[in-house]
Amino acid sequence: MTATRTAWHIPRYGRPETLTPVTLSMAQPGPREVLIRIHASAVTRADGMMRKGEPLFARPFLGLRRPRNGLSGTGLSGEVIAVGDKVRRFAPGDMVFGEAGMHFGANASHICLDEDGVLMPKPEALSHQDAAVLCDGVLTSWHYLRSLGQVKGGDRILILGGAGSLGSAAVQIAADLGAEVTATCSARNTRFVRSLGAARVIDYTSEEVLQSGGDYDVIFDTLGVASFSAAKPALAETGRYLCPVLTLGRLPAIMLSGLVGQKRALFAAVGLEKPQRLRAMLSEILTRIDQDRLAPVMDRIYPLSDLVEAHAYVEAGHKRGNVVVV
Ligand SMILES: NC(=O)c1ccc[n+]([C@@H]2O[C@H](COP(=O)([O-])OP(=O)(O)OC[C@H]3O[C@@H](n4cnc5c(N)ncnc54)[C@H](OP(=O)(O)O)[C@@H]3O)[C@@H](O)[C@H]2O)c1
Repeated sequence: MTATRTAWHIPRYGRPETLTPVTLSMAQPGPREVLIRIHASAVTRADGMMRKGEPLFARPFLGLRRPRNGLSGTGLSGEVIAVGDKVRRFAPGDMVFGEAGMHFGANASHICLDEDGVLMPKPEALSHQDAAVLCDGVLTSWHYLRSLGQVKGGDRILILGGAGSLGSAAVQIAADLGAEVTATCSARNTRFVRSLGAARVIDYTSEEVLQSGGDYDVIFDTLGVASFSAAKPALAETGRYLCPVLTLGRLPAIMLSGLVGQKRALFAAVGLEKPQRLRAMLSEILTRIDQDRLAPVMDRIYPLSDLVEAHAYVEAGHKRGNVVVV
């Protein structure tokens, strides 16, 4: 009997229901690849954007009419079950986590990944569910706050969207760095966001968020709900506006912000950083997790067969932390 694997295909851009389960022949690892039996994979806001083909200006890159690669999912955790003959970092039986990046196909039973990609040994104490989501909110917020924002002890930081995947990690990371954290969320999440380390929480549904004279060193707009021009009055003289959501409207602000004044708007596509650099950041993240200074927040866990429901839940825009399929 031929070995098979299950995966989820995106035959065209569209709603969650366009996701289609498929059975494929078992992937065979190339010389530098490992074959992973996936235990858990993330379902993220970015996965939803890929499924919808958004933003439109990215379609030449993603695929004009349908995703170029066609399979769903990036973040994953599982067990190595076979390796190519030139693989040095991993062996069958190793537990690993990481991300498929632009290869996609993590919402599946198995996947082959390059050993030199964003692939890390999974610590025993970390569950597959928690490991599967690390490359989304935790890694992204780490890169934004540490590398782009250069947040340090004593900084005043405002995190827009403190209850989401990026936001729940950002609040913890910023508080651990010794920053004075203010975060926004709706009333139902106030206590939760405080428990992550926010000294002050603003209910964005009823309070003014971006007041002039806010004097923030950093505003991290995790969801792209503001703009550089709206954030500027609330920034300190040399403040940074960080936003991981790239839109055509935001592009000029990012390209031109260095020309006038000292306030900056900054963007990075974290998945496009060199794998070696991302692995170094993940090592630092694992140290913080081991020291109980950081923990990925888990909202819902679905079976892999319910990927459509998981996408619909994420798309509703009110998840608390992360969602995985197992
Ligand atoms: N540049 C990169 O490399 C990169 C990497 C990863 C992700 N991203 C992008 O980052 C973005 C954020 O993703 P995410 O996964 O963190 O989002 P998410 O988890 O889906 O965000 C959900 C949260 O947003 C909160 N929320 C909704 N509207 C809000 C508002 N107006 N103000 C404050 N909070 C609000 C909700 O809280 P309530 O329920 O309390 O309303 C909910 O907890 C996505 O667009 C994703 O594509 C970029």
